[in-house]
Amino acid sequence: MTKDKRIFIETYGCQMNVYDSEIVLSILEKEGYTPCSGIEEAGLILVNTCSIRENAEQRVWGRLDRFLQEKKKREVTVGVLGCMAERLKQELMSHPAVDIVAGPDTYRQLPVLLQRLETEGQKQIDTALSLKETYADIEPVRTDPNGVTSFISIMRGCNNMCTYCIVPYVRGGERSRDPQSIVREARHMYEAGYREVNLLGQNVDSYLWKNPGNPTESVNFAQLIELVALVAPDLRVRFSTSHPKDMSNGVLYSMAMYPNICTHIHLPVQSGSDRMLEKMNRKYTVAGYLERIEKIRETVPEAAITTDIIAGFCSETEEDHQATLSLMRQVRFDSAFMFQYSQRPGTKAARHFADDVPPEVKTRRLNEIIELQSAISLERNRECVGQTYEVLIEGTSKRDKGALFGRTQGNKVCVFPALGHRPGEYVNVTVESCTSATLLGNIVE
Ligand code: 5AD
Ligand code: SF4
Repeated sequence: MTKDKRIFIETYGCQMNVYDSEIVLSILEKEGYTPCSGIEEAGLILVNTCSIRENAEQRVWGRLDRFLQEKKKREVTVGVLGCMAERLKQELMSHPAVDIVAGPDTYRQLPVLLQRLETEGQKQIDTALSLKETYADIEPVRTDPNGVTSFISIMRGCNNMCTYCIVPYVRGGERSRDPQSIVREARHMYEAGYREVNLLGQNVDSYLWKNPGNPTESVNFAQLIELVALVAPDLRVRFSTSHPKDMSNGVLYSMAMYPNICTHIHLPVQSGSDRMLEKMNRKYTVAGYLERIEKIRETVPEAAITTDIIAGFCSETEEDHQATLSLMRQVRFDSAFMFQYSQRPGTKAARHFADDVPPEVKTRRLNEIIELQSAISLERNRECVGQTYEVLIEGTSKRDKGALFGRTQGNKVCVFPALGHRPGEYVNVTVESCTSATLLGNIVE
């Protein structure tokens, strides 16, 4: 059944999933599989899935129906990986398109599952979660189109138990990856021409590696970013996601000390109401959050700060919502990811709190949040006009083939005429104008 070894992986969800798909590709390439450019050409279709909100799952069910059409035409194997595989194993096994279901900690088993599928002629499943697996020894096959920026997973799982969140259930407990393997991977990427690595974890501030041979020897996150920053002065280091309850001053000091640690912090606030934060089990208050913001601005004044916000969490009142808008005005985030609350079965919120904000109220509140944030993002970007920033060039602008785009250290996308420059180079760009999403400028020599 799996004789055609051309493989196509479709990835949904966060950057961690993008990274995991590259790990899967690395595992399967060793088994003779080769990537191809679309599902129509593939003998093996894998879909790496997300469960964070209901609509992420809906999209995948739609894709499975599409894969079923493909299966009716020819022999093709379909596997479901990732968070949905963990959460909806039985339902997925019952879908006529699905041959294999594999959870986030079982990718090393994929060759075995594929083999068994062939010999036994029966659907295969492995969704065991692990307290150890970090895939530390597997170097992912990079699929980034630009060859300039890429991700490195530094930990897996999450222990935070925010009441709305499915991640701890589908990704298991938190574990940190051996720092030497992270530094090695960063060095290999640098040697391959990459100029930016983005260190990924659900809560990077709780990164803590203890040497199994000598438990007194440990590396925390502030130390880890220093180790990666020392790989090369022209290798940029980014990271996400930070947690307001855990973000240490040490991380800020490392950021202030190493010019190649990008001055950007993604610090999800979720809500501006203490009552909601308590109910979400975020373990900080608005005052505590603002104290962290103040410390960032004092230590790294130029740092860009971005966030995540959820509108319409259980029992959210108009007053709670206004508190969120007011916090946004106070902090003036550079940008934000904004969502309506989506109840996830099995979470504490789903088990104990009523999802009682009517859908039209959620939508209206979300729209108010989005509108306010785009006005703030525009104001923030206008403050950049006239300033000059170091930009790492990532590629050619989609709209204008004569223009390039890249990012500032603050993660703002910047577009400018190419003038013979290329992806992977650093240039200084003076910003001439902007939209709420993009800076437009010119290279200065
Ligand atoms: N509903 C809506 N948004 C959610 N997020 C996490 N869980 C949910 C949910 N159940 C958002 C949070 C988180 C981001 C990755 O997704 O804002 O920071
Ligand atoms: Fe990533 Fe969370 Fe979605 Fe899983 S559920 S893919 S960890 S965003």
